[in-house]
Amino acid sequence: MSRIPAHIGVIMDGNGRWAKRRGLPRSAGHKAGADNLEKMCDYCGSIGVKALTVYAFSTENWSRPQKEVDALMDLLYSYLLTVEEKFKNRNMRLQISGDRTPFSDKIKAAIIHAEEVTAPGDGMVLNIALNYGGRDEIVRAARKTAEDVKAGKISPDDIDEDYFGKYMYTANLPEVDLIIRPSGEKRLSNFLLWQAAYAEFWYSDICWPDFKDKDMERAIIDFQKRDRRFGNV
Ligand code: FPP
Repeated sequence: MSRIPAHIGVIMDGNGRWAKRRGLPRSAGHKAGADNLEKMCDYCGSIGVKALTVYAFSTENWSRPQKEVDALMDLLYSYLLTVEEKFKNRNMRLQISGDRTPFSDKIKAAIIHAEEVTAPGDGMVLNIALNYGGRDEIVRAARKTAEDVKAGKISPDDIDEDYFGKYMYTANLPEVDLIIRPSGEKRLSNFLLWQAAYAEFWYSDICWPDFKDKDMERAIIDFQKRDRRFGNV
């Protein structure tokens, strides 16, 4: 139980394949993925993880068939409505990272409400990446930094990683220690590009809805054995 990663990122991949193997629609896979997220929050919270960032909808996911996008939006909305009740008992806080502009007013309002009511939670933070893209996040930070230069708040020579990094959605969270991608793919897919600089990676063939406590435990034990040198010797 020593060296628990403070911040874990998870690409919740494989929901579609999980559903297909069972002859179910892809939306059933996403529902199973959302249910699994709840179990994983309980596990991560219980072992002392401070923040869990999950990739729920990328800036590229809008190009999926409309039916699937609609199903994901419905699932997200229903999930947001349950957050107040679920998080209260667990003392968790919800954070949403990503560009909210394209979401419906109903979803935007539910996000604001869920973040507000869980704000006092001082246990684990569940940070859901929604309409999130790592490149988009970096461009956003560049735009904000450029605005600061224009307003005379900082000179270009004084811009450093700390200054730029404070415009990342995760600036208030610990550094990402571990990124997990289930379902066999071995790529970042635009997830936490800035934050991944010194994160450890862990892959598994298991589809996200089947990814259980023991799999998370395996990932963490493997993480604990790694020699993290951060560029040093
Ligand atoms: C990738 O699997 C998964 C997604 C694009 C959506 C992830 C969303 C959820 C787990 C549920 C929504 C979350 C909340 C908080 C309600 P995929 O569909 O690409 O799977 P595949 O690669 O097997 O096709």
